[in-house]
Amino acid sequence: MTDPKTPKLRSQNWFNNPDNPEMTALYLERYLNYGLTREELQSGKPIIGIAQTGSDLSPCNRHHIELSKRVRDGVIAAGGTVIEIPVHPIQETGKRPTAMLDRNLAYLSLVETLYGYPIDGVVLNIGCDKTTPALLMAAATVNIPAIALSVGPMLNGWFRGQRTGSGTIVWKAREMMAAGEIDADGFMDMVASSTPSVGYCNTMGTATTMNSLAEALGMQLPGSAAIPAPYRERGQISYETGKRIVDMVHEDLKPSDIMTREAFENAIVVNSAIGGSTNAPIHLNGIAKHLDIELTNDDWQKLGHKVPLLVNLQPAGEYLGEDYHQAGGVPAVTGELIRAGVLPHPDVMTVNGQTMGENCAKAEPSNTDVIHKMLTPMVKDAGFINLSGNLFDSAIMKTSVISKEFRDRYLSNPEDPEAFEGRAIVFDGPEDFHHRIDDESLGIDEHCILIMRGAGPIGYPGGAEVVNMRPPAYLLKRDIHALPCVGDGRQSGTSGSPSILNASPEAAAGGGLALVATGDTVRIDLRKCTADMLVDEATLEARRAALVDGKMPVPDSQTPWQEIFRAKVRPFSEGMILDGADAYQDIAHKGL
Ligand code: FES
Ligand code: MG
Repeated sequence: MTDPKTPKLRSQNWFNNPDNPEMTALYLERYLNYGLTREELQSGKPIIGIAQTGSDLSPCNRHHIELSKRVRDGVIAAGGTVIEIPVHPIQETGKRPTAMLDRNLAYLSLVETLYGYPIDGVVLNIGCDKTTPALLMAAATVNIPAIALSVGPMLNGWFRGQRTGSGTIVWKAREMMAAGEIDADGFMDMVASSTPSVGYCNTMGTATTMNSLAEALGMQLPGSAAIPAPYRERGQISYETGKRIVDMVHEDLKPSDIMTREAFENAIVVNSAIGGSTNAPIHLNGIAKHLDIELTNDDWQKLGHKVPLLVNLQPAGEYLGEDYHQAGGVPAVTGELIRAGVLPHPDVMTVNGQTMGENCAKAEPSNTDVIHKMLTPMVKDAGFINLSGNLFDSAIMKTSVISKEFRDRYLSNPEDPEAFEGRAIVFDGPEDFHHRIDDESLGIDEHCILIMRGAGPIGYPGGAEVVNMRPPAYLLKRDIHALPCVGDGRQSGTSGSPSILNASPEAAAGGGLALVATGDTVRIDLRKCTADMLVDEATLEARRAALVDGKMPVPDSQTPWQEIFRAKVRPFSEGMILDGADAYQDIAHKGL
């Protein structure tokens, strides 16, 4: 029986079209061949897609294969039918040259699938870094009812009695190996200790960030982002998610009803409070574009910079994913922000049909060492700043990971404004960096700024996570563990160095970084949010003239998709979306 409240389901255009019984038969017959019945397909039960990102290729999301069984139970219990949808795999650690290249490919393929097949609503299986934005972008474009389900973080890692966090442990182990404290076997043991179970990275890297923000945007059931993958609550929330998406189809509650401008503003504030990854502005700016919402890096500074850091997770703090969940997860953080009047829009709608305020206003942190109270934050003014100058138009810096000395000297002390000036050491891509960083003839010292170019979306297709460059081994031995870094690539969310990232436009698109040379003086003023090479105009013009079209050359593409991607991609500051893709919105309600 069709629910009288339910608008006509789009799946019925395929499976039950009285004007065209022949096509109906053709659409129908093949889906019966594995045991679905005409009753399931023709009685107006919502057809729920599960956008499956779990596979053997994607260990971070693989547990979704199990969880989807509980989603299926929930969908059926609520009166729906499930069709599972394979999604192009995106594995952060395994995909060459970078998983980021595949975010837009997974987006494109899921748009085609959701649009072109009889799907009424969709459960988005999110988890590993790029799966979350890829799936939210597709849901935004197609705009059928959608709910996100996180696979959950891994359990805490331990090594010799200490918590070891994914990614973060690699930076530590790498420094120890460079300084000769451990050998290659020790390196592998240390790194592997951080991955004790199924699930995604247990640090506040891009995965925990984006899963938390999917909840802060209102796209996941409250409290679900942080539940560790193996916990029983993870299976239970999967069942609830399956039940809820069926109701959302009946209510016609769509991504555009939830992911509003106000929801993005909330998410920016939550990102500062959790100490979220610098990949977040790229992804959220991109998702917003697919909803025709203009979100810029300026918004991130304006709305996010003054928000304090509350969550004590590695790399900015000490704890890991299990602790985050046990302390109350995203609702506890959001509750703190609401009670302090810092969350700008508690009245926005979420997937459970209630507002963010109704869901979270009473949620309190149960362990205030893991989730701090607003009165006793870990760091004040912990959000990103957005810099510009003759090196680039826009680049992001995560201020919560800067050392106290650096902050006091260059950012927080209004009595004594000081800009940072240093000698540029320029690397053309990550291979050049690895080849030359320990070359003593470069004379790198603590007054240098390391610059990486050729690492943006076009230069290194998808953009490399390489801007957080370690100092040369001879400086590490002198206990200098970080130098300021600038670049047109990205930084892993699990790294904690003071870097100016995602510079747009990139050198390969003719940005100012194409013109900087080793030995130039670079001036960075964190209070004015500027970054400039102190080089006269005539010299810059001559350097530009020496380049083809004023752009840094790029290596050949190795696959057809790399070539298509490079021709179509917009800069990081504009969400790295495909040029023109944002012209297609709400497409489930147009055409078909
Ligand atoms: Fe997949 Fe971190 S590598 S979540
Ligand atoms: Mg990453």
